[in-house]
Amino acid sequence: MRLNILRRACAALIAGALLPALAFAQEQWSFPAGSSPFVIDRMVKVANLRDGDVVVDLGSFDGRIVLAAVRSNPKVRGWGVDIEANLVAAANETARKEGLADRAQFYHRNAFDVDLREVTVINMWLFRSLTQLLRPKILAEARPGTRVIINGALIDNANMMGNWQPDRVDRGDGSQSPIFVWFVPARVEGAWSWQLPLGGEGRQYDVLLSQQFQRIEGHARVGNRRESLTEAALQGADISFALEVTVEGVGRARHAFAGRVEGDEIRGSVTVTPADGKPQQLPWVARRGTSASWFRPTGVNIK
Ligand SMILES: C[S@@+](CC[C@H](N)C(=O)[O-])C[C@H]1O[C@@H](n2cnc3c(N)ncnc32)[C@H](O)[C@@H]1O
Repeated sequence: MRLNILRRACAALIAGALLPALAFAQEQWSFPAGSSPFVIDRMVKVANLRDGDVVVDLGSFDGRIVLAAVRSNPKVRGWGVDIEANLVAAANETARKEGLADRAQFYHRNAFDVDLREVTVINMWLFRSLTQLLRPKILAEARPGTRVIINGALIDNANMMGNWQPDRVDRGDGSQSPIFVWFVPARVEGAWSWQLPLGGEGRQYDVLLSQQFQRIEGHARVGNRRESLTEAALQGADISFALEVTVEGVGRARHAFAGRVEGDEIRGSVTVTPADGKPQQLPWVARRGTSASWFRPTGVNIK
């Protein structure tokens, strides 16, 4: 009886210590070295490359992703980093042989130590734990609108970036790996104010925006009226939302705002449609400010 208990305890100990190590080793062994030609083709397509794009591959292996990107457009350049020196040398050698070395370079560097401020497209195919750990760096450094593209083979999981959900998933014809795309969102959380010339006067608008990655919500104050924003969307630096509110001297009006965030300013246009009038399009310039005017006293005299 005692021997049995001892045997079971030993078996549990061995399983506890060995199984996670075995699972990890299997994960390492089963991870193929580089994206397949099919997937590379799709990754380059979903990147929707434009002249001037700068493509990076964090963990560039033999350079295949960056090389495919620069081959696809002579006005695209890129670079990759890998922790394996021999892979970096092989990638630079291919670039040299193909006459692409002026637009594709590879460095022996850790993905955590690169500068992401100048890039417009970030490719990765790393273990999920690494991808999640790179998230703070990407969100802090990469410019709004930077596309982050991940090959989902073997790691197909919507939580690759934790709570930051992908903006797009390309599943191809369903027989190949999914490809996930995120757009680095502009930072819009906080108070924004602007004026619109309506009903013969400049009307003050104050909005408080809250943000979780690309998901935004907002609450507006116009005069003494407060309303929540609807249809709020943020993709990279492009922001849009609607507001239906009563404006003094105008009446109930729907506002459809669309603009681009540039630091502490949003520039775009708004279409204002009064309940009984014609739509009117106006320029829209919002500035980041303080929440003081949103919170100023409301009083009881609400017209
Ligand atoms: C699965 S391969 C992906 C290769 C390539 N991105 C592709 O999709 O074809 C992962 C690569 O990341 C490299 N790697 C792993 N951790 C890294 C790190 N912290 N910094 C740089 N490279 C890393 C590995 O050496 C390997 O070449």
